[in-house]
Amino acid sequence: MVAHREGSIIVSELTLHWLEREVARILKRSGKPLSFEETAELTGRDVGSIAKAALWLLSKGLVTVEEYERRIYGLGEEGRIYAERGLPERRLLERLKSAGGRLDLRTLEKELGEKEFRIGINWARRMGWIEIEKIDENVYARLVSEPGESPEERVLGILKGGEREISELPEDLREACQRLASRPGVLETRTKRIHILRPTDALLKLSDSILEVEEVTKITPSMIASGAWRRVRLSRFDIWAPTPPAFAGKRHPLRELIKIVREVFVEMGFEEIKGPLVELAFWNFDALFQPQDHPAREMHDTFYLAEPEFGELPAHLVEPVRRAHEDGGDTGSTGWGYKWREEEARKLLLRTHTTATTIRWLADHHEPPVKVFSVDRIYRNEKVDWKHLAEFHQIEGIVMSENVSFRDLLGLIKEFYARLGLKNVRFRPSYFPYTEPSAEAIAYLEDKKTWLELIGMGIFRPEVTRPMGVKHRVLAWGGGLERLALALYDLDDIRTFYMNDLNWIRSLPVSYLSRKIGLI
Ligand code: PHE
Repeated sequence: MVAHREGSIIVSELTLHWLEREVARILKRSGKPLSFEETAELTGRDVGSIAKAALWLLSKGLVTVEEYERRIYGLGEEGRIYAERGLPERRLLERLKSAGGRLDLRTLEKELGEKEFRIGINWARRMGWIEIEKIDENVYARLVSEPGESPEERVLGILKGGEREISELPEDLREACQRLASRPGVLETRTKRIHILRPTDALLKLSDSILEVEEVTKITPSMIASGAWRRVRLSRFDIWAPTPPAFAGKRHPLRELIKIVREVFVEMGFEEIKGPLVELAFWNFDALFQPQDHPAREMHDTFYLAEPEFGELPAHLVEPVRRAHEDGGDTGSTGWGYKWREEEARKLLLRTHTTATTIRWLADHHEPPVKVFSVDRIYRNEKVDWKHLAEFHQIEGIVMSENVSFRDLLGLIKEFYARLGLKNVRFRPSYFPYTEPSAEAIAYLEDKKTWLELIGMGIFRPEVTRPMGVKHRVLAWGGGLERLALALYDLDDIRTFYMNDLNWIRSLPVSYLSRKIGLI
């Protein structure tokens, strides 16, 4: 249909889908506006189909669609109880009646319970059912009228059968419904959108022959066999017809970045390694030459396991690591000069960095070359805010070879981040107990005009490598994934990645990041 785009209908060109024809026929016959629900009932179709047909008819200028919000009332938690047992004022009344029309307030309260009593007294008075009297020192409730079913009670009775819109209630009950709604917990309201289909003049003038002609979207074998195909008309395709948006299945944005990081590492010749989340302090700290009184070990930073509290140490590494800490052993170092305790190293914790996994790997792979990486979960006891999570991911890698240098490390890091679209990377000196020299890589974010901390890096110290039996230099680096993800997705709250806000996730096109970075 092209004609409707100019605002008029060329009837001879008008073709209608069978669903449109059904809806149009009903509307023309009824001659008045109908809601989607009414139309659905009259055509025997579901509301979704009617909505679809309505959009098509709308685009052809045959209907207008108006949208309204209606308030729907149903029973709330309290209301369901009242509908079963009666309103508090009614129950109070019943009690008064059985007591002969008068009862002191204290007894009433004891029998009905504080809450029910309070509500009951209040409303029974307001309705003029009771009066409060004071005789001597006592206060009494006295029955003054014996009402039949109250409007409120009738509303409750109706809503017990299912929720209703206010206009569906008899006129004399609407005020009572509002009153009930003002009582806490008695009614629940929600708004419902309703759509009204109104035929336009163009539709009302449409000839019956157009509405009756049989139109199909495809010809079936049985139509060919029966010869029915001669009598039907094939509907035209309208490639502009509105359709509901389709949200393609896709990776979570963070998973997409992880996938990209993996691909970049693999392209650069690295292999992925995995290690346990529950780790020995030995691998997380001791093997990395972090002294046992290092502040990072303390409870405010590390999640230690309560049960089981300890694990088994790799027996052949205990002595070399102890020596490295106490006096340097054969590493050429003087060590930290304190008494190393096995007990401390045997503690179990949630790994605080993937370097634990790296060093585990090195202990078993001490011959060059080694080129491995991990992208994995780590845990730190941080207070969660826009910049911090207690559970997040790190990117980590090492290269061990006969003749690698610090410059190779800088080059590798530059290359790695350039492939992620960060071309302006710089380095500044830093400190880690397990590397020497140590540095930090930062990247300039053009759009934000700020520097972003990417990773920590360095060459593992002999105190780390020698006890593991490693004789060559190991270039090592590691850093957070989520902060990088924030920059790449142009967000400013790290929690966004874990809130599963479908609107945001849907708003990102498939492979958004790969495209943005220019990988595809
Ligand atoms: N493990 C360090 C961190 O968690 C990063 C790092 C890894 C630094 C390897 C140097 C070498 O921040």
